[in-house]
Amino acid sequence: MLRKKMIYKSVCLSFVLVIMVTVLQRGTAPSHFLPGQPQKEPPQEPVKAQKRDGVFSKTGNFWKSRKEKAHPEADTETQVKSWDVTTTNCTANQNISKMDWFKGLEPHFRQFLLYRHCRYFPMLINHPEKCSGDIHLLIVVKSIITQHDRREAIRRTWGQEKEVDGKRIKTLFLLGTASKEEERANYQKLLDYENHIYRDILQWDFLDSFFNLTLKEVHFLKWLNIYCDSVRYIFKGDDDVFVSPGNILEFLESKKEGDLFVGDVLNKARPIRKKENKYYIPSALYNKSNYPPYAGGGGFLMDGPLAVKLHKISETLELYPIDDVFLGMCLEILKVAPIRHEGFKTFGIVKNKNSKMNKEPCFFRDMMVVHKLLPTELLQMWDLVHSNLTCSRKVNVL
Ligand SMILES: *[C@@H]1O[C@H](CO)[C@@H](O)[C@H](O)[C@H]1NC(C)=O
Ligand SMILES: *[C@@H]1O[C@H](CO)[C@@H](O)[C@H](O)[C@H]1NC(C)=O
Ligand SMILES: *[C@@H]1O[C@H](CO)[C@@H](O)[C@H](O)[C@H]1NC(C)=O
Ligand SMILES: *[C@@H]1O[C@H](CO)[C@@H](O)[C@H](O)[C@H]1NC(C)=O
Ligand SMILES: *[C@@H]1O[C@H](CO)[C@@H](O)[C@H](O)[C@H]1NC(C)=O
Repeated sequence: MLRKKMIYKSVCLSFVLVIMVTVLQRGTAPSHFLPGQPQKEPPQEPVKAQKRDGVFSKTGNFWKSRKEKAHPEADTETQVKSWDVTTTNCTANQNISKMDWFKGLEPHFRQFLLYRHCRYFPMLINHPEKCSGDIHLLIVVKSIITQHDRREAIRRTWGQEKEVDGKRIKTLFLLGTASKEEERANYQKLLDYENHIYRDILQWDFLDSFFNLTLKEVHFLKWLNIYCDSVRYIFKGDDDVFVSPGNILEFLESKKEGDLFVGDVLNKARPIRKKENKYYIPSALYNKSNYPPYAGGGGFLMDGPLAVKLHKISETLELYPIDDVFLGMCLEILKVAPIRHEGFKTFGIVKNKNSKMNKEPCFFRDMMVVHKLLPTELLQMWDLVHSNLTCSRKVNVL
């Protein structure tokens, strides 16, 4: 039964691949791989246009010369510093496996603790060139390999790379490897292709699981420290949120120099002790009654210099399974208080899921981040918010 299912899956995926190759050979790409913006590029930008042509004329070779292209960017730039972890050599920590408190834990906590000391993994896809020149806002999005449609919707909406009043915005997606064995080969191939077109994927060689989100955090901070340490601001968020880069830029304009960390901040949140909950933490892992203040990981904003400091501090702390709480722990040591802002709604807008507010474009128009939207909902909401909206009153949050 299971075998049949897997064969069926493989056949389906092969079919998709064949279609894609066929379409490409005809000189066009499947429409959902085409970003909306570059198509409309005016002819006075010949360099960019050429680049795109280059991408498409080379796509035929992409599928053949896979191995050589595994690190397309790796050696083009002569970087002084580079990602220095090239092998995975991490064995389970047998020291704790004999302890009684450890034996009583749930399997996923045991797995987390056994490999907690493995902090850095090699990079599978890197873009050292991403931060060349001045970047005002770097948008980084936590994503997983199977969520291609979410990345696509983001590229068409709030993740568009552009320049606003001389301020450059760049976007990157942060990924680990597929958590299911049977997904790995095919999805990896598609991801390589996606990256080949958009050049906006960072991928590390660790499993994309819930507890590994903190790994993603520390990998990103280390990456930033190496390749992008002069970026002005960073927005980091999930791949299922609505973001308004316009409102974020407007908000940042009023900010002075100095440590900035803004989001949907929780003060004195308590660790959840109910085992059924996704965020359950046994007291063996955290025994204080409150967490330090932290911003919901769905979307927050920080300045570049603070991110560099966070990297340094993060290396002195043991990894904690919840990524946003982990950052809160780092901020506490740095004595930086994260600031709560009404424009960040990462823990939900209103308690009532059926409330009209959840679909109200006039409300979204005035926000910086709102969770949680499906890709189609995001595309629709983006269009609505950017149409000629007539709102009865300004929901003034900025
Ligand atoms: C991995 O680490 C172990 C213990 O630290 C060491 O004995 C072994 O030689 C290492 N293997 C590689 C391939 O580096
Ligand atoms: C296990 O314990 C030994 C001896 O106390 C120590 O040297 C080693 O670093 C520990 N291993 C880990 C992964 O913490
Ligand atoms: C995190 O990723 C590593 C490397 O792939 C893996 O060994 C480990 O089991 C993962 N941890 C969890 C908790 O999923
Ligand atoms: C809480 O944990 C710390 C470090 O793991 C330990 O030193 C301390 O005794 C614990 N406190 C209580 C009340 O269990
Ligand atoms: C929105 O309004 C402006 C002027 O008020 C107009 O120029 C523009 O064409 C309108 N856009 C749409 C999509 O209706």
